[in-house]
Amino acid sequence: MPVEPAPRAPTARSASRLRMTGYAALQVLLFVPTLLAFVLCAVGGALSLVVLGLPLLAIGMPLLRWTAQRHRVMAARCLGIEVPPGPRRTPPGEPLYGRLMLWARDPMTWRELAWALASITIGFTVSLAFLVLFLGIVTGLVWWYGTEPIMRGRARLDLMFLAYGRTERLEQRVAELTETRADVVDHAAAELRRIERDLHDGAQARLVALSMSLGLAEEAFATDPERARALVNDARTTTSAALTDLRNVVRGIHPPVLADRGLAGAVQALALDLPLPVEVEASLPGRPPAPVESALYFTIAECLANIGKHSGAGNAWVLMRHRDGILQAIVGDDGAGGADPGAGTGMLGVMRRLAAFDGTMTVASPVGGPTIVTLEVPCALSSPKTAPSSVSD
Ligand SMILES: Nc1ncnc2c1ncn2[C@@H]1O[C@H](COP(=O)(O)OP(=O)(O)OP(=O)(O)O)[C@@H](O)[C@H]1O
Ligand SMILES: [Mg+2]
Repeated sequence: MPVEPAPRAPTARSASRLRMTGYAALQVLLFVPTLLAFVLCAVGGALSLVVLGLPLLAIGMPLLRWTAQRHRVMAARCLGIEVPPGPRRTPPGEPLYGRLMLWARDPMTWRELAWALASITIGFTVSLAFLVLFLGIVTGLVWWYGTEPIMRGRARLDLMFLAYGRTERLEQRVAELTETRADVVDHAAAELRRIERDLHDGAQARLVALSMSLGLAEEAFATDPERARALVNDARTTTSAALTDLRNVVRGIHPPVLADRGLAGAVQALALDLPLPVEVEASLPGRPPAPVESALYFTIAECLANIGKHSGAGNAWVLMRHRDGILQAIVGDDGAGGADPGAGTGMLGVMRRLAAFDGTMTVASPVGGPTIVTLEVPCALSSPKTAPSSVSD
């Protein structure tokens, strides 16, 4: 919601008026592309039934999005608020028809079209009239007293169209939550299957072998004590192997090092296992909730494993900090770059895990490196415990 700024010093107010005057000039200049985009979309939409309109829409829609976004940013700056989210992104490589369908389904498309109409009529008139007044002689006074109310008025008009309404925001949130809930259910089912498989192939198989060895030993005791002793020996080895397997399964569910040493300590332990120097820096004045901690741990573990497997890096680093209610972890390496979450299952899996907590994972990995993976999860930290620490190996 727009917030009226607190009274400011005269120089700051003059700067703000100058900035708004600049916006007015830009808005007048953007009249032409906005008009063009509106005409292309309107004519393209009308002709789309006879295919002829599709190329017009293919040019008009991106142009409309571009000019609408410029106005969205200017309006938010005039009102001193955050730029509201724009239309949903269309996946890269989506064919034209698919893009058109996505555009048609996004309420923002219709909002932007309505905005374009308002912008080329009322909006343009307001900005132009303001500029003319400013350039005329009444200037000083009009500019001094008029800039802020006029430009804020125009900004509110723009955002009335260019920001999603409450119902649309709630609808989007419900859609996101439905998707992440489905992912969480899938993930939980997959985890259960993995644990079941690990137990079946590991500990269970060894316990079966153990039971057979002991059975044979029992039979052999009377006739061949030597063989019986060897069988009992085998059974002991199998028991240790079964225990190791069970420990590994437990570690995969919730690593004990995480419970004991917290995220920073556990990541330091992971870093020590890598065959290259990894600098770990953490500034976490408390612990995140256990499920978030665990999700972040496995995500960082996957990133570090990827560095070991794919990057060919000489150095890597992990930074963790908590700021403005967001726990952020950055995992970087100076290797070959070219990481692509779509090319495997590891990164996509951890992305889904994070999404369950409204977390995000962004990968910046140009060819030639470096690779920077940024993980962000909104969460509060519990009781202050860990002081800022830094370790490198
Ligand atoms: N740090 C990195 N540096 C360079 N390339 C990377 C890096 N991390 C990932 N990649 C590339 O991105 C791809 C996707 O990684 P992802 O973790 O999703 O799959 P994976 O590691 O190949 O398989 P897995 O499913 O076992 O994790 C990798 O195949 C690799 O080519
Ligand atoms: Mg991987």
